[in-house]
Amino acid sequence: MPKVSQKGISMPESPIRKLVPYAEAAKKRGINVIHLNIGQPDIKTPQVALDAVKNHNLEVVEYSRTEGSEEYRTKLAAYYAKYNIHVDANDIIVTTGGSEALSFTIGSITDFGDEIIIPEPFYANYNGFSTAAGVNVVPIISKIDDNFALPSIEEFEKLITKKTKAILICNPGNPTGYLYTPEEIAKLAAIVKKHEIFLIADEVYREFTYDNRSHYSILQEPGLEENAIVVDSVSKRYSMCGARIGCMVSKNKELIKTAIKFAQARLSPPTFAQIASEAALETPQSYFDEVKEEYVGRRNLLIRELEKIEGVTIGRPQGAFYCIAQLPIEDSDHFAQWLLNDFSINGETVMVAPAAGFYASEGYGKNQVRIAYVLEKESLKRAVGILKEALKSYKG
Ligand SMILES: Cc1ncc(COP(=O)(O)O)c(C=O)c1O
Repeated sequence: MPKVSQKGISMPESPIRKLVPYAEAAKKRGINVIHLNIGQPDIKTPQVALDAVKNHNLEVVEYSRTEGSEEYRTKLAAYYAKYNIHVDANDIIVTTGGSEALSFTIGSITDFGDEIIIPEPFYANYNGFSTAAGVNVVPIISKIDDNFALPSIEEFEKLITKKTKAILICNPGNPTGYLYTPEEIAKLAAIVKKHEIFLIADEVYREFTYDNRSHYSILQEPGLEENAIVVDSVSKRYSMCGARIGCMVSKNKELIKTAIKFAQARLSPPTFAQIASEAALETPQSYFDEVKEEYVGRRNLLIRELEKIEGVTIGRPQGAFYCIAQLPIEDSDHFAQWLLNDFSINGETVMVAPAAGFYASEGYGKNQVRIAYVLEKESLKRAVGILKEALKSYKG
């Protein structure tokens, strides 16, 4: 019998997708499942992007350049300039989603057994990309009581070893919704420079910041040119998750040269999706204004309704479209499964993402769930109502 690899066996299951069979079974029983578990926005993709794919004049769907088309990268550089991020086309590699940017980044800076420090809870797939690369995630706990702010720099210092290659942050955070301040970024900049390691920032939710706060990119931080690597994506920005286009951005020439070799191995990013992504850069500001207003409305409603439930503690998201809720339960994996198997109100139930999968430290997040507010307000309100009743009935 041929055997799969140890690495394959240790690949983590997605905490978001592992409950899917239970949701499917609930649907087969005629239950309407309200999905609070995934980050697939229901927002319409900008018309300019859809039109560009409809009206293309390609006769052969060729490979594009390994690093992505020159035109697209040049326009991307202009997009970044609007955010006071000064890069040029050669500092950008277009990738198949932010996911591939993460895997190229980790591949380019680590060897087997190296370490990356990540504040937890974090986007669960960081575990998967690290495992695939033979890299150990070294978690550093950020707390719901501090709204998931940056842990103290002394705590980071304690974790840095000869094997540490990078600190990885997600800003704004999935699953926390936390938005790092320029002061926090400056502290991280100082520590990565001191130890000559990289600072990777996953900034795929850059546009989604609320309460008049603006995003501060690590690429805006002076003196961080050699250390900073940004992971980016069109998936959430333009509600184009299925396009599979992202990029990695860095002023570090050696890093880009190395990452391009990984990119060459997969030949090129998708051609049609680059056409759509290039056109998406023409999306009018009014689109973002409306989307932001919608998310703020949803967030406010979600927080307001969750706060009414006894025993629930919530982080207050300042960006992205997720929040972590701490529930009066002991095992959110069991609770999430129970919601799908055994609970419904008027033929409806909710699906949440158990938060333990967003932590690397054993035992953390077991009483927490991640809620994505990617549904319109009416469904969100019903979903929180169901959660409230479910918590009353649940016996653990
Ligand atoms: C924080 C974060 N980074 C990266 C990704 C990957 O996105 P994609 O590969 O669709 O660009 C996601 C997707 O949900 C995400 O939430």
